Amino acid sequence: MVARNITAEVNRLRQQLAEHNYQYYVLDDPKIPDAEYDRLVQRLLELETAHPELVTNHSPTQRVGAGALTEFAQITHRLPMLSLDNAFSADGIAAFAKRINDKLIKTDAIEFVCEPKLDGLAVSLVYQNGELLQAATRGDGKVGEDITLNVKTIASVPLRLRGSNYPALLEVRGEVFMTKTGFANLNQRATENEEKVFANPRNAAAGSLRQLDSNITATRPLEIYFYAVGFVDGGTVASSHWDVLQQMASWGLRVNPETARATGVADCLKYYDDLLARRDELDYEIDGIVYKVNQFVEQQQLGFVSRAPRWAIAHKFPAQEEITQIEAVEFQVGRTGALTPVARLQPVQVGGVTVSNATLHNMDEVARKDIRLGDTVIVRRAGDVIPEIVKPILERRKRGAKQVQLPKQCPECGSEVIRLEGEAVARCSGGLFCPAQRKQAIKHFAGRKALDIDGLGDKLVDQLVDADLIATVADLYQLQLNTLADLERMGQKSAENLLQALEQSKKTTFAKFLFALGIREVGEATALNLATHFVSLQRLMQATEEELIAVPEVGPIVAAHTTCFFQQPHNCEVIQALLAAGICWEQVAPPSAIAQPLAGKTIVLTGTLTSMSRDEAKAKLQVLGAKVSTSVSKNTSLVIAGEAAGSKLTKAEQLGVTVLDEAAFTELLLSN
Ligand code: IVH
Repeated sequence: MVARNITAEVNRLRQQLAEHNYQYYVLDDPKIPDAEYDRLVQRLLELETAHPELVTNHSPTQRVGAGALTEFAQITHRLPMLSLDNAFSADGIAAFAKRINDKLIKTDAIEFVCEPKLDGLAVSLVYQNGELLQAATRGDGKVGEDITLNVKTIASVPLRLRGSNYPALLEVRGEVFMTKTGFANLNQRATENEEKVFANPRNAAAGSLRQLDSNITATRPLEIYFYAVGFVDGGTVASSHWDVLQQMASWGLRVNPETARATGVADCLKYYDDLLARRDELDYEIDGIVYKVNQFVEQQQLGFVSRAPRWAIAHKFPAQEEITQIEAVEFQVGRTGALTPVARLQPVQVGGVTVSNATLHNMDEVARKDIRLGDTVIVRRAGDVIPEIVKPILERRKRGAKQVQLPKQCPECGSEVIRLEGEAVARCSGGLFCPAQRKQAIKHFAGRKALDIDGLGDKLVDQLVDADLIATVADLYQLQLNTLADLERMGQKSAENLLQALEQSKKTTFAKFLFALGIREVGEATALNLATHFVSLQRLMQATEEELIAVPEVGPIVAAHTTCFFQQPHNCEVIQALLAAGICWEQVAPPSAIAQPLAGKTIVLTGTLTSMSRDEAKAKLQVLGAKVSTSVSKNTSLVIAGEAAGSKLTKAEQLGVTVLDEAAFTELLLSN
């Protein structure tokens, strides 16, 4: 026997929790903080654990899942669950109202109830003597599936009704949905766990509700709004839809707070316009407005046509998903060099806006969604979010549709694109030169931990780049006093100060210079390690990945980014220009005396080299001070001829220019 005071406490806790649920879900006005609510649940759990005989089916502790089923049982609805006719324009609504007036032989404006049309799943719940007995999906309208265990896990579904004036048998209907926030969190978790992500909140709600394992449903952020009473026995309900909604709320059944009354078509359309304007602010997706004749006597007189009532209609909003075709996939380069694939679409109206581009995020996403060129796809635009491709329609894929290829060269500057193993993002490696990365690179270069150019703030960098006064960091050192002083918001004094700061910045350290270059993954500490290890810039620029990995705290990723950076001829050109401008540091001799054994020499590369690319060879020669040219003349100092060299080699021989083969060239590099 359980002591009477314990039974009383258990009952009191259940009562309190039911009341707090009502305050929270139905009135949207919680009276206690979540922590206090959790303590009450905790106390009830404690008592129920100590006295299992006190546990009932409807205790608020019984919401957790109840194990997996092998299939859902079928449930025949006591009254069929109907669907709604759709209207897509104000004219359609006017015609709907006219049909009603005609049928009712009435000239006065009709009283309607307007409700958001939630984009979720219709469910039917049966309460017997106030206790939740059964929950079912709509199914085909006549027969649905028994999802009682799943519905019990939804926190906003009362397991027991409030008050006492409800019918002994009460069927209520409503929409189960997922909020936008809940959906975003769920997908975020799925992405982190490398699980399947859902295309939209409706699919997520459907997938969660039709789970055979209610333990899984219990982890999903499902919610409900009730919008109708179905079968009733052993009692009656009010005589209008509006009053029934108020009754349902008083029983603890959550009704959408946006629900409102309207008289006549104009009022309905005002409601529609207002909610359409606020659509993005709502934390749940709606695909239109439902107008329902308020008085039940009138509903009865109007009756049904096939499976939809004459007394209600759905006034649809512009769709947020549409079908279109991918015309091309292009790549945009971001400020940090990240390449983002963007689908160019055949223009299509989505949610009232013309959409002709959609982001594909990155190459992993392209692969995951299996998107090919020319595909017919579903595009989605929700609120002010960038339009997205939900999925391709595989049935409409043309034979031999080509895969989307990551370009080998940056579309902005032609530098090599690198994508390291295991990384979703591909990047342009032309950091110092790429126009897309220009501002970012210059701001980083001028930063306090880099070359610390006093007075060169972000705004001024924007101004200088926008006015075409600088394109790379090297151009900073060519700026003239007059040009600077003429800039808006500048003046003579600031211009002089900036030039002085630039002059001062030339004296730096090797580590700071390296950091300033903005090589990916090369932060301050790595820059210092590299500087200490290699001592000379030339040696670092020629280092192989293996040599780099030998440096403390340098792994394969840093090594790959570093070699790739120095392999880009444009980056080497900028570095040469910086050194020529007078940037120097101790340990290494000033630029004029820097070991540039090939200074003043003009070299031409021809044929194919086996150990490196043409660009790499060019970069290495430039580091040693050579000018690399494409045509052979009497001024050419040296021709490096790889395999299958042709006319340039012949010309060099005719002009008596020295020719090195690949082996001799490698030796030349090694000896410097
Ligand atoms: S009333 C006879 N009210 O729309 C009336 N339905 O196209 C039947 N829906 O299956 C439903 N919000 O899933 C009603 N406020 C609302 C609704 C709503 C969404 C869905 C429901 C129904 C479908 C009908």
